[in-house]
Amino acid sequence: MNAAGEHIVNLNPAPLDALHRPLRDLRISVMDRCNFRCPYCMPRERFHEHYPFLKSSERLSFDEIIRLTRLFVPLGVRKLRITGGEPLLRVNLADLVADLNRIEGIEDIALTTNGVLLSRYASELKAAGLARVTISLDSLDQATFAAMNGGFGRVSEVLEGIEHAQAAGLGPIKVNAVMQRGINETGVLPLVEHFRGSGVTVRFIEYMDVGNRNDWREQLVVPSRDLLAQISERWPMLPVKPEYAGEVARRYAFADGQGEVGFISSVTQPFCGACSRARLSSDGALYTCLFAQTGTDLRAPLRAGASDEELAQIMRNIWTARTDRYSEQRASLRAQGTAQQPKIEMNYIGG
Ligand code: GTP
Ligand code: 5AD
Ligand code: SF4
Ligand code: SF4
Repeated sequence: MNAAGEHIVNLNPAPLDALHRPLRDLRISVMDRCNFRCPYCMPRERFHEHYPFLKSSERLSFDEIIRLTRLFVPLGVRKLRITGGEPLLRVNLADLVADLNRIEGIEDIALTTNGVLLSRYASELKAAGLARVTISLDSLDQATFAAMNGGFGRVSEVLEGIEHAQAAGLGPIKVNAVMQRGINETGVLPLVEHFRGSGVTVRFIEYMDVGNRNDWREQLVVPSRDLLAQISERWPMLPVKPEYAGEVARRYAFADGQGEVGFISSVTQPFCGACSRARLSSDGALYTCLFAQTGTDLRAPLRAGASDEELAQIMRNIWTARTDRYSEQRASLRAQGTAQQPKIEMNYIGG
């Protein structure tokens, strides 16, 4: 009601998509480059030294990211996740975080990183208003770690990065490990053991057919239920209720109170039903699914002088029309041969 006692009708409530799902999370890729070459994401032979990464002028500027993010809030966005490639390669990232943190309506800002540069940046990111970080770490064994990331960095640097993040208060900290059959599956128990009782939650991700360049095969997927069985044999685990509808990870707690483990099972237990995530690529296109074949260019209208209203209308229309549920359709799309059509590469939208 306003001062005159009239009911104010909100003519533009936050939209639902065509499958009645609200928009809540915006994942912003700030950098298409990475200092790793994980074969499941940016295989070295394809992302070589002559690979045409974006020019800086092709990436959205901080001002452009801020403007679009502001316009996403009335559409429902409350959570932001900064991704890459490797987001810590973007110069002055803390300045962006500070500006995002000032946007009214944003309740949570997280960052996904491979952790190598985290020791250097953890405290300034915290001071800028970053709430928490998620670190990718596929194995504690140096040789396996190197095999999983194309031969860059050391496990010890990532562990130091995690310690700095903890010391800076960037928690709750999560560690994401992509599991591949025959490559790092024997490292499951050591990972769980290492972080048990530390306040850091390890989450195991089923290897997914993102992008077009990782030669995904179903035989390489380690189903989460196998991992849960393996872990439960060593430490009794109890299921934990989801914190919110559409939660990506299924969570289990150690029965002795030493924390939690999560499973992200996009292949064997898809979670599209309540998917509230939109992705903004480093070159300013909006994608409504991790496996999208096309995005909508927001950078062109932005740079051509579109008004806030015009931009907001484009974004609203995209969400309203959204029907994505790729993970639920994966098996049938693959059987028809259509899952192999070109999809957006992970380094533009950051997982
Ligand atoms: P929290 O806010 O911490 O719950 O984050 P989250 O679990 O939503 O995000 P995070 O980036 O940690 O997700 C972990 C991984 O899950 C990503 O790197 C992706 O590999 C995968 N993932 C996240 N969102 C989706 C999604 O919408 N679809 C699919 N198929 N996989 C996703
Ligand atoms: N399958 C599953 N997870 C992947 N990630 C990158 N590529 C894949 C894939 N093919 C994960 C990374 C990281 C996040 C950015 O996405 O391990 O945790
Ligand atoms: Fe880089 Fe992460 Fe992709 Fe590995 S998974 S290449 S660390 S963006
Ligand atoms: Fe959402 Fe697409 Fe992932 Fe399904 S596959 S959960 S629709 S991003």
